[in-house]
Amino acid sequence: MEFRVERREGIEVWTIDAEGRRNAISRAMLAELEALVGRAARDPALRCVVLTGAGDKAFCAGADLKERAAMSEDEVHAFHAGLRRTLVAVEASPQVYVAALNGAALGGGLELALACDLRLASDAAQLGLPEVSLGIIPGGGGTQRLPRLVGVGRAKELILTGRRVPAGEAMAMGLVTEVVAPERLPEAAIALAGRLARNAPVSLRQAKRAIDQGLHLPLAEALSLENRLYQACLPTKDRQEALRAFAEKRTPTFTGE
Ligand code: COA
Repeated sequence: MEFRVERREGIEVWTIDAEGRRNAISRAMLAELEALVGRAARDPALRCVVLTGAGDKAFCAGADLKERAAMSEDEVHAFHAGLRRTLVAVEASPQVYVAALNGAALGGGLELALACDLRLASDAAQLGLPEVSLGIIPGGGGTQRLPRLVGVGRAKELILTGRRVPAGEAMAMGLVTEVVAPERLPEAAIALAGRLARNAPVSLRQAKRAIDQGLHLPLAEALSLENRLYQACLPTKDRQEALRAFAEKRTPTFTGE
């Protein structure tokens, strides 16, 4: 097994369990990740997934370069298609994905984190897209998701130099939203996941869609998309429950209906 999976109520923590290769993405790891994402999408009780890596050196060192060296060009194509498909599935998933960067997030490792909804990092983490130093370009969405997150100028500087950014600098540019000491990262990630998972599941799903899909549309279309997604929340039992809980001065209990 390439992942350790732990469940706590509506939250799952998926830990890439390949410290010896710095949690690099092998074909087996990718297949398992795709299956996990597919299974999660069909699990309405699962609200949030925390993705992290074993050890304190790397979240994920990108593609498994040792495995890659023995792969034919066709096999590289197939791997790459699987990576793109899986990252799109993470982004389109009804769950909120939190990447807890316990160490280096490089190449495909950073692209995996970029497909997640939120990123937090240990203060020892380094982030980068070094592909141009390896004769390729980021191919798992890095050239598209990074500029949307941090702006074109910063993304070009990072991608064209291939340099590694320390966690503090990543926070200053909005690439991660929280930086903590390495030993505090697991609890900080669970606390963040817990804060998200307390909210109404339909609202989480619709808000995520509104942001991700609206970003690519002209403003007028994006606003009507928001309106459609908003309307879908109105008939939910959870909206009624929130109003009752407010009147009764208690915390609402959401069921996702
Ligand atoms: N694929 C396969 N194996 C990898 C790997 C990768 N992407 N990254 C690291 N490893 C392996 C090393 O080959 C080494 O294996 P060995 O013990 O058999 O020699 C082991 O992981 C430890 O690597 P090491 O570099 O000694 O660890 P570190 O803790 O000092 O540094 C990193 C960790 C992630 C910063 C460093 O390994 C690194 O820069 N890796 C390459 C990242 C990269 O360029 N990825 C591709 C992006 S397109």
